[in-house]
Amino acid sequence: MADGESSIQPNKLFNYKGYNLSSIHTIERLDQMENYDVRDSDVFVVTYPKSGTIWMQNIIKHIYMDGDLQTEECELSYSVVPWLEITHNKINTDDRPSPRLFFTHLPYQLIPKALKNKKTKVIYVYRNPKDVAVSYYHFHKFANYLETPENFGTFLQTFLNGQVVNDCWFNHVRNWYNHRHEFNIMFHSYEEIIKDLRVAVLKFSNFLGRSLDNKHVDIIVERSTFKNMKSNPKSNYENIGFPIFNNSAAGFMRKGTVGDWKNNFTVAENEMFDRIFEEKMKNVPLKYTWEISD
Ligand code: A3P
Repeated sequence: MADGESSIQPNKLFNYKGYNLSSIHTIERLDQMENYDVRDSDVFVVTYPKSGTIWMQNIIKHIYMDGDLQTEECELSYSVVPWLEITHNKINTDDRPSPRLFFTHLPYQLIPKALKNKKTKVIYVYRNPKDVAVSYYHFHKFANYLETPENFGTFLQTFLNGQVVNDCWFNHVRNWYNHRHEFNIMFHSYEEIIKDLRVAVLKFSNFLGRSLDNKHVDIIVERSTFKNMKSNPKSNYENIGFPIFNNSAAGFMRKGTVGDWKNNFTVAENEMFDRIFEEKMKNVPLKYTWEISD
């Protein structure tokens, strides 16, 4: 352990107004959220954890990059598109010039009231929840502030019960979707980005009103591939490292595929999941992609 570093003990979930959050959240910051001052020019990327947040940060960062993209050294994704509800190292991300770019994992009920009925653009990215569960399972081994699950089976139950940080996946997606008319919002799936990264970049930039030339789009696509993000510390969070993360476990850029759940779910777990999914998401007509055939 290097000087000045201390280990982080995994903490139990922290309940805030009925929602499971974690020890990296502070009550002080969460209390600011309800009346947070939102600007029309702000951009919010909303995700449930493990749904491609870091990918979206990288894409949005590049969509808003001006200047000579060929030579320009990129800034850290989490500095350009910081986490709304967490303040890192007391850096003030609120007083930035417009357009401020943010990401948030907050459930609908905890987001700033001022985000509603505004022009502020919101992009909600969702991922098929079987892959979210697998990705979240591995993330628990990577994040030192989360308890390491015994095995995937026990974690899956915890995930289904919403006993994880940022609470229940089903409620997160359903509530944001059911309240979509209150926002200037676009829904997009992680899998559609995988299927055609270029088309996704164009959809995001159109929605955000950023007209990009072909060269700019080429660079975004090139810098947002799994391979290139995995090798770029500006994009992959690698430099956060110890003590928050366990560097010997798979990091944020783990596999980046669709259908890894098939390597983890038993047949019984899959049938149980399908029943619960069917019941909870029957009135949410979002398109899900569970696997992509070659
Ligand atoms: P896996 O664990 O399945 O590999 P988040 O940023 O919300 O924590 O999501 C992390 C997930 O997004 C990880 O999934 C990660 O590999 C995937 N991801 C990140 N960047 C990606 C990219 N460029 N292409 C495909 N998947 C990506």
